[in-house]
Amino acid sequence: MKEIATVILAAGKGTRMKSNLVKVLHPLMGEPMLSFPIEVARKINSQDIILVTGYQAELIRERFKGEGLTFVEQKEQLGTGHAVLCTKDTLKDFKGDILILCGDVPLIKEDTVRALIEVHQEGSSAVTVLTTKLPNPEGYGRIIRGDDGGILRIVEERDATDLEKEVKEVNTGIYCAKASYLFQALQMVGRENKQSEYYLTDIVAIATEHDEKVKGFLAEDPFEVMGINNREELAKANEVIRREILYKLMMNGVGIIAPQTTFIERDVRIGIDTVIYPNCYIQGNSQIGKECIIEPGSMITNSIIGDSVIIKTCCVISDSKIANRVIIGPFAHLRPDTELEDKVKIGNFVEIKKTKIGEGSKASHLSYLGDATLGRGVNVGAGTITCNYDGLKKNQTIIEDNVFIGSDTQFVAPVKIGEGAYIGAGSTITEDVPSGSLALSRAKQVTKKRKREL
Ligand code: UD1
Ligand code: CA
Repeated sequence: MKEIATVILAAGKGTRMKSNLVKVLHPLMGEPMLSFPIEVARKINSQDIILVTGYQAELIRERFKGEGLTFVEQKEQLGTGHAVLCTKDTLKDFKGDILILCGDVPLIKEDTVRALIEVHQEGSSAVTVLTTKLPNPEGYGRIIRGDDGGILRIVEERDATDLEKEVKEVNTGIYCAKASYLFQALQMVGRENKQSEYYLTDIVAIATEHDEKVKGFLAEDPFEVMGINNREELAKANEVIRREILYKLMMNGVGIIAPQTTFIERDVRIGIDTVIYPNCYIQGNSQIGKECIIEPGSMITNSIIGDSVIIKTCCVISDSKIANRVIIGPFAHLRPDTELEDKVKIGNFVEIKKTKIGEGSKASHLSYLGDATLGRGVNVGAGTITCNYDGLKKNQTIIEDNVFIGSDTQFVAPVKIGEGAYIGAGSTITEDVPSGSLALSRAKQVTKKRKREL
């Protein structure tokens, strides 16, 4: 393969999205749509990847900084032709072929792009257009071919005659062009069209006029080259990616009971024989071990979960670390920096934050544990609360191994409970409790005989 530089168009606002966020940053399964064409450009070993940005350029640069990309700003969005022309200076010494991808065509596959480049280079063409056939081509530029079947030009929907609108073969917005030809042709592109824009598509007609060779390469799967222009199309693309991710997981031994309701982002890793029940959403850099059960309706974000863990229905787990054979839920909330060692049991309506819990400890019902460290074998009674916030700062609660905490206990932090201590139910603990002792702070019960008329 000759040297390839890739230009990705991403300057448009994406008016049809009706959004304050630039279109190419809208996410597909948690990742901005722009990251998909960037990935393809990397896979084909582009020697340079140039992003043409305009609307919210800063935001895009911020999102992709440090990834070895070149950013070129198109100050005014005067059309796709003008956008590519903005890369002229950056590519002035480049002699190879330029692959043009669109930031809003994210489902494009590496193999298709490779095939496009191959056709382009074999034919030694000036420009090769990736096309596809659509039963309903509305909104796309139409490929107009001559009597000999060769491509003559591309006409945009808005500029097309009724007869041209009948054409089912459309422009995908993806091209491969000789660098030398591309910038020469772009300088000849005018803006005499319905949108008064510099159309990149015009380089095709210019090539035919100048006896330069134009080729087309047909993408078989129209979904792959679908352009995302509105939120309905965004949802369709999301669905394609979601299905691909689930398919890979299932092929690798992960059980997914209802793929139609399961959302798992691309970077999530899951071990074999783990079963994901319906309506779960697993995102970010989460890792789940093998032989786990994730029951319906749980949301897991950026968390690391060991083997043989059971997460019962409707748990929310974020930025947490969970070891092996832990049982959580139903209805538990593990907030950031929760760390659970092996065989911990967390029951219903328990909220945990910035807290480490040692092996085999249990908090089975209705508790809040925040800014705390619990040792091994601790029993946390129902309704135990760490009062970690004094209105100014967060304070620590330390509970050593084998402490027994009676129900309805409050720990007014900072406070430390020594190993093997026993806290009587209903206590408000404000002072440290030494190892092995019993502490209780509730008022003494008074029972009086009741005078009442019989
Ligand atoms: C474009 C093609 C059309 C094709 C379709 C495929 C042109 C004139 N038309 O139409 O033939 O069928 O893609 O999806 O090229 N952009 C810029 N700067 C601009 C204008 C656009 O960077 O000044 C970027 C957009 O951010 C977007 C891409 O170029 O990523 C395509 O622009 P868009 O306005 O969506 O073009 P379409 O009307 O879809
Ligand atoms: Ca588009």
